[in-house]
Amino acid sequence: MITNGTDLPCYTKAQLALRNGQDKPAIWVAYRGLIYDVSMSRLWKNGMHYEHWAGQDLTEELTDAPHSSSVFQRFEVVGKLL
Ligand code: HEM
Repeated sequence: MITNGTDLPCYTKAQLALRNGQDKPAIWVAYRGLIYDVSMSRLWKNGMHYEHWAGQDLTEELTDAPHSSSVFQRFEVVGKLL
């Protein structure tokens, strides 16, 4: 079995892109190498959050947000971004 040290599964950008809120029910967002499942958030409905789309690495975009990365605390980390 392949392990990555933390037992989190790894996903490619293409796999992440399928969880953009349009193609599958799951809505995922990557931040600093980790992928968060934000499917339960009413603020990420259909994968859209204030001009930002899920299914991508939004690390750089967080600098435009009026909040810090603490918003991710209540969401489960589902994997690592390759
Ligand atoms: C112009 C850009 C953005 C605006 C205006 C915005 C606005 C907001 C607001 C008003 C909230 C709820 C209140 C709060 O927690 O402060 C929120 C929550 C959140 N934001 Fe943003 N945001 C922006 C960009 C981003 C980006 C780029 C990300 C991802 C890197 C992000 C991730 C989140 C998450 C995960 C939550 C928590 C949702 C929840 O608890 O249901 N936001 N955002």
